[in-house]
Amino acid sequence: MKNMSTSYPQTGYNLYQPITVFDSGVGGITVLAQARKLLPAEDFRYFADIANAPYGDKSTAQIQELMRDNCRRLYALGSKALVLACNTATSAAAAMLRQDYDLPILGLEPALKPAVLRHKRVLVMATRLTLREKKFAALLDQVGKDAQVIPLACPGLMEMVEEDFRSEKIYAYLRHLLEPYRGRAGALVLGCTHYVFLRRWLEENYPCFVIYDGNTGVSQHLYTVLAQKGLLRQAETPGNILWDCSLPPGEERRSFLDKCRRDLAALA
Ligand code: DGL
Repeated sequence: MKNMSTSYPQTGYNLYQPITVFDSGVGGITVLAQARKLLPAEDFRYFADIANAPYGDKSTAQIQELMRDNCRRLYALGSKALVLACNTATSAAAAMLRQDYDLPILGLEPALKPAVLRHKRVLVMATRLTLREKKFAALLDQVGKDAQVIPLACPGLMEMVEEDFRSEKIYAYLRHLLEPYRGRAGALVLGCTHYVFLRRWLEENYPCFVIYDGNTGVSQHLYTVLAQKGLLRQAETPGNILWDCSLPPGEERRSFLDKCRRDLAALA
């Protein structure tokens, strides 16, 4: 930790530590799946703060508080990089965490940049918090002049993905949200990692939109950062995944972590 006024075990980081992937729930598993393709020899720790989810309807201050706690816990366990596989947590807390920790911290933002290069009207699905944060406003300032960007807040969608991302309830929600834009926008940006589980259904049902998410970008960035620091593992055998979450030991925790494993398998 950079700020030595608080005393948590100083672990530093090294080649053999896992990469931590963080999200409020299962959404970050879509990032984990992508990152493992690029970094097959690495060990990963997946941590979901599911006891405090959803993040998208909380205040910035609440998320910063939660992220301070999460990072204290994760830092003490040791990892060589932290991926905030959550657009919401990145918007509210990435800059703050980068000041406190000397660990590489990577975050996600809605993949607007590639979308505005090719399309005149771009839809962005994200949580309410992501869309109202300064970070999104800054992104719009930077790239929003080249296209009309239409933000679509999706309250409740994260929770439905947590339940079952292949439900009729979700499909009805998406039709209600997107049908008005059929033929009226060319790109759809998935600005919440939970929504990436819906990508296949969206591609089949809305071929009128080119779909963008930030998962490949953040995975490539992770690869580059680790390579630059000489922290890439070159083993022949595939790395492991350590599954962890903020629920206390017991049945609820076991069944959540089982669901995480199944959701990863479903993305294969
Ligand atoms: N996966 C998170 C994101 O990318 C979900 C946020 C939530 O917990 O509402 O924004």
